Amino acid sequence: MPADRLVIAIDGPSGSGKSSAAKGVARSLGLAYLDTGAMYRAVTWALLRAGVDPSDRDAVIASTRDADLEISLDPDAPWVRVNGQDVTDAIREPGISATVSAVATLPECRANLVERQRAIIEAAPAGIVAEGRDITTVVAPDADVRLLLTADPEIRMARRKAELGGKVDAEALADQVLRRDADDSTLVNFTTAADGVTHLDGTYLTLEGTIQAILDLVARTAR
Ligand code: DC
Repeated sequence: MPADRLVIAIDGPSGSGKSSAAKGVARSLGLAYLDTGAMYRAVTWALLRAGVDPSDRDAVIASTRDADLEISLDPDAPWVRVNGQDVTDAIREPGISATVSAVATLPECRANLVERQRAIIEAAPAGIVAEGRDITTVVAPDADVRLLLTADPEIRMARRKAELGGKVDAEALADQVLRRDADDSTLVNFTTAADGVTHLDGTYLTLEGTIQAILDLVARTAR
């Protein structure tokens, strides 16, 4: 690895805490931060806004290809724009979470977004912490540090509920966490660590503890 650049790849299921942990690590090391899930969400927002039927495969592929995506790489100031519109808050709505698998389960859409993600990672001058489902395996398998962050389902559902301000019933919560993970894992394995990927179980760790464990791993493996 070039001594002046560091690429850290973090994968994990919904609610594993990977976004907060990845931001904390980026902040601590002065690196950029890429939320690849936000890109899948932004494309989903654009196709719904355009009235595209999420089950119309060709139309979903075309919307993904045509989406003009811009994303902040600042862990302290996240924003996402698609086709010129700021969708930072809109992409967190339950309607997006319920539909995003329509994009994430099409290989053509994945290939398009993976290509954009690789370009972003390569262009980050000091390096980057990139998080998602396939970063350690597909997007950046040659990253300096590769980590799979998991947590037990009960903890993941509780975290997602807290993120939504507690205003969600049990069925919607299970849909947003368990059903979505089951659908998303048909093309990508993010429940077991691939060869060379370190598995960290964050079930009993605080956010600070998780960040520290990742920083320790970086110190052990990348420096
Ligand atoms: O991490 P998240 O919940 O914001 O991700 C939104 C969706 O995007 C999720 O359903 C899975 C998908 N995704 C993916 O398939 N690959 C990635 N690298 C990141 C997200």
